[in-house]
Amino acid sequence: MSLERTLSIIKPDGVARDRIGSVYDRFERAGLRIVAARMLELSRAQAESFYAVHQKRPFFQSLVAYMTSGPVMVQVLEGEEAVQKNRDLMGATDPAKAAPGTLRRDWGESIERNLVHGSDSPANALCEIAFFFGEIDVFSRTPR
Ligand code: CMP
Repeated sequence: MSLERTLSIIKPDGVARDRIGSVYDRFERAGLRIVAARMLELSRAQAESFYAVHQKRPFFQSLVAYMTSGPVMVQVLEGEEAVQKNRDLMGATDPAKAAPGTLRRDWGESIERNLVHGSDSPANALCEIAFFFGEIDVFSRTPR
């Protein structure tokens, strides 16, 4: 087991529908501690940069429009195997295919408006955390 950090975003649909507390409750019940958090509105340039890996995909422009449509809640989660644990909590990208009891199955609206984002690997987690937070913003709450 390894102590990890991962980046999570509650997307505009989740913030607009007052799901922040419900999502945080799932994180904390699963042993994922919130060690940094910020609400912000992504600029178009930030959204394009954050999702640059998808820029050739047909859904890219729509994804950027959606992610800039309102405030998002961005947090760093810390815990054992945090990257995979958060992915398990989220469920599959498409809420219709996500397992029962997962965040996306319970509260996602569509494959695009799918409530939450989570880093897909420890290496990407480091990059995604640095995209939003400086070292000074992230607290260490787990005894090492
Ligand atoms: P996320 O995990 O944030 O990573 C990329 C995002 O692109 C994904 O969640 C969805 O919001 C969106 N996405 C992925 N696949 C599709 C698709 N086929 N159609 C529309 N949006 C998609």
